[in-house]
Amino acid sequence: MTILVTGGAGFIGSHLVKKLIDLKYQVIVVDNFNDYYDPQLKHDRIKKFLKDYKFKVHQIDIDDYQKLELVFKNQQFDKIINLAAQAGVRHSLTHPFVYLKSNIDGMVNLLELAKKYKVKDFIYASSSSVYGGNKKIPFSESDKVDSPISLYAATKKADELLAYAYHHLYHINCVGLRFFNVYGPWGRPDNALIKFARNILADKPIAVYNYGRMARDFTYIDDIVAGIVRAMSKNFKYEIFNLGNCYPVKLTDFIKLIEKYLGKKAKQKKMPMQPGEVKKTWADIAKAKRLLGYQPTTGIDQGVEKVIEWVKWYYKIS
Ligand SMILES: NC(=O)c1ccc[n+]([C@@H]2O[C@H](COP(=O)([O-])OP(=O)(O)OC[C@H]3O[C@@H](n4cnc5c(N)ncnc54)[C@H](O)[C@@H]3O)[C@@H](O)[C@H]2O)c1
Repeated sequence: MTILVTGGAGFIGSHLVKKLIDLKYQVIVVDNFNDYYDPQLKHDRIKKFLKDYKFKVHQIDIDDYQKLELVFKNQQFDKIINLAAQAGVRHSLTHPFVYLKSNIDGMVNLLELAKKYKVKDFIYASSSSVYGGNKKIPFSESDKVDSPISLYAATKKADELLAYAYHHLYHINCVGLRFFNVYGPWGRPDNALIKFARNILADKPIAVYNYGRMARDFTYIDDIVAGIVRAMSKNFKYEIFNLGNCYPVKLTDFIKLIEKYLGKKAKQKKMPMQPGEVKKTWADIAKAKRLLGYQPTTGIDQGVEKVIEWVKWYYKIS
């Protein structure tokens, strides 16, 4: 089976690629290696796969239909997993247009090519951010998600609608995965855990938004990858799943955990709430458990320890 993974040099994408290669799939990656954060990290993530004959990478923007089509002309795909997107809630306040290009135009290009080249299965990254400021917790797939509070969230909700339209019109099987606060080794430098750990180690203050009154349903990368693999192994027509940990952690407890594994106190700079951010995320994972057999296994304590080990190793901090 040949799988197209867009965003395969990204945090989640590169972990997924490793898993798919281990499972003996042929994996083709499309990634534009943009400089939202240091592209060297993207190259470092995938360099271990480059020797593998089952792996190929194309540096292409999913917004570029013509270049993207060349990939489809040369290769028949069994499944597309679209993880390429402009991520980050705060960045969407200052750089709106890149979100439209990557998250909407890029998504439509891929759906069009799936239609034209008869790829039946399409899996894509949505986000917990679609729940916006919903008060009902935990967030369930059956909740209304009509009130995004950031442009990033609006593009992810748009992806779900686009997927539905292509499923309805062209019978492409579409599965949307709403990821909740994914963390792990090789994570993005803008991820709170990695940013906090690096700042604390460098004796720099950490920005604690909403004066610490926030909570996040942090989900370890291996659990997310297991969820994606389960989603691609079943034959759903059109579904949306929450992939979370179902265990929200208070920001203040999260910082204590980081301090514990670093053996060092953080200098905290208490800040007001940032526009676009939500106070709490919490995934109801009953549907994912029932239909995917999804069951997260890495708790926050163990996950934070692993990430801190990786931060020290990768950034060469003793
Ligand atoms: N990490 C999380 O907590 C989280 C939570 C919810 C949703 N998501 C979604 O999961 C997906 C992967 O996120 P991630 O954390 O791995 O982010 P990431 O930025 O590390 O990975 C995205 C990858 O896509 C590539 N990319 C971006 N725009 C592109 C374009 N136009 N054409 C080709 N490649 C492009 C980037 O170079 C990057 O390598 C994204 O769709 C993101 O919105 C992530």
